[in-house]
Amino acid sequence: MSNITVCVRFRPLSPKEKEADGGAICVQGLDSESFFFKAEKEEELAFCFDKVFYQDAEQADVFRYLAMPVVQDTLNGINGTIVTYGQTGAGKTYSMEGPSISESDGQKKGLLPRVVDNLFEHIKCSEETTKCTVKISMVEIYMEKVRDLFDLSKDNLQIKENRTQGIFLSGVTEVTILDPEEALRCLSRGISNRAVGETQMNMTSSRSHCVYTFLVQQESLKDDWSRTGKLVLVDLAGSEKVEKSGAEGRNLDEAKTINKSLSALGNVINALTTGKVNHIPYRDSKLTRILQDALGGNSRTALLCCCSPSSSNASESLSTIRFGTRTKRIKAPLRAPALPTQATPFQHRRSAYDGILEKLRKSLNPEDVMLLEELFIREGILFDPQSTEDLESALEDMISLSVSSMQETIEELNEALEKLSVKYDALAAELEAAKRSPTVHVVSAGEYPNFIGKIFGVFNRF
Ligand SMILES: Nc1ncnc2c1ncn2[C@@H]1O[C@H](COP(=O)(O)OP(=O)(O)OP(=O)(O)O)[C@@H](O)[C@H]1O
Ligand SMILES: [Mg+2]
Repeated sequence: MSNITVCVRFRPLSPKEKEADGGAICVQGLDSESFFFKAEKEEELAFCFDKVFYQDAEQADVFRYLAMPVVQDTLNGINGTIVTYGQTGAGKTYSMEGPSISESDGQKKGLLPRVVDNLFEHIKCSEETTKCTVKISMVEIYMEKVRDLFDLSKDNLQIKENRTQGIFLSGVTEVTILDPEEALRCLSRGISNRAVGETQMNMTSSRSHCVYTFLVQQESLKDDWSRTGKLVLVDLAGSEKVEKSGAEGRNLDEAKTINKSLSALGNVINALTTGKVNHIPYRDSKLTRILQDALGGNSRTALLCCCSPSSSNASESLSTIRFGTRTKRIKAPLRAPALPTQATPFQHRRSAYDGILEKLRKSLNPEDVMLLEELFIREGILFDPQSTEDLESALEDMISLSVSSMQETIEELNEALEKLSVKYDALAAELEAAKRSPTVHVVSAGEYPNFIGKIFGVFNRF
C-alpha cells in the first residue's frame, strides 16, 4: 500500500472552454473514486483514484479528504506534504489558496487558510501544560533558484540534508506566528512577492513552484517529551505546451524551465516505480530535491492532480491523470521520523570534545572557551559540523550528477552501437556481394571485418 494519497480534481469549465467545442466535456464520473475519460484519438479509458472531486466539489471536501489527515499526522510528529499538480490554468492555486488567500467567503477558502485554522484549533484545545509553536517559511523555485519570499535579498538558498531535519533550506526566514490572522497576513505578504505572469490558459499564472512550510513544535511543560512535525504545501507551476500556447521571450524561458523541472519530477517517479533503477535522480532539479522526503517515504504525502474537464484540453488532462496513476504506484513505506542512528567515529570524537568544552565553560570565561573552540577548528583538532555537512552534501551532489551523466553517456553509446550495428550489416552485405563479383577490388575485404570487429570490441565493453 502506497503512503501517497492521490486525488483528481476537475474544475468547472472556464468561459473560454464553454465556447470551444461547444463546451464538450471529456470526463464522465462513475462514482467518487472512478471515472471514464475520452481523449482525442484514444479509446475511452477508465481511471480509479483515492478520491475524485468533480466540477461541483466544495473546497471544504478537498480539505477534509486530502489535507486533514496529513495535518493530523503533522501534529503527531509525522512529516507531511501536500502537492497540487496539473497544466497551467487547471486550478492548482485556486485549490491551494482559494480565489485569494484573504478570501472572506468561507466556502471558497483554499487549503492553506484551512490548514492554518486547523492547526490553531488544535493548539487552542491542547492542554495548558503543552507549549506549541508554529513557524512558517515560504520560498519559490523560480528559474531553478530558490528565493525566500519573506526576504527577497535571499535569492539563492541552498537545499541541504541532515539526519535530524531531513531535507531543509539553509538560512531560510522562519516567522513564528501566534494566531491565524497573523499567519494569513504573513502568507499574503509572501504570495505578493511570487512570480506571476499571463498564459493563454490563465491570466494570473504562477511562474514558479511555491513551497509553504509549517514547522509545528510541541513541548510538554509537565512531562519529559517534545514533538516536531513539518508540513509542506507545494503549489506547482503548471506545465504548458509551448507550441500550442505560442509563448515567446521571457515567457518561453520560464515555460521551458518549468517543463524541465516537471519532467525531472516525472523521471524521479518513474525511477521510484519501475524498481529497475538503483539511482533516483532527486538532485537533477531543485524541485525534486525539495520533494525528496515526500516521495522517498520520509513523509505522509497527498497529491492533488488538477484538470480541466474540457475536451479542448483533454490531452493535457490525460497526461496529468497518468502522472497521478504513476505516483500512486510508489511503494516507499512511510519511515518513522529520522532519529540519530549509530554514531560515526567523527560524532564520537565531537561528543568527547563537547564534553571537554562544557567542563571548560564551567571554569573559564564563556568568551575564552569560544575563542578556544575557534582555534581548535582552525587547527583541525575539531571539525565544524556545519562545514562537514556541507562537504558531505557537495560530495553527494557530485556523485549523483556523475551517475546521471554516466547513465546519459551509456544511453548515447547504446544508440551509437545500434547505428554501428546497422552499418555493419550493410557493409557485410556489400562485402559478400563484392566477394562474389570478380571485377570488384577486394584488397580491403579482409580489413573491414577486422576494423568493425575492433569497434564492436570497444563498445561491447560498456
Ligand atoms: N474549482 C474551481 N472553481 C472555480 N474556479 C476555479 C476553480 N479552479 C480554478 N478556477 C479558476 O480558474 C482559473 C485558473 O486557476 P488557477 O490559477 O488555480 O490555475 P493554476 O493551475 O494555478 O495555473 P498556473 O499553473 O498557470 O498557475 C482561475 O481564474 C481560478 O479562479
Ligand atoms: Mg497557479
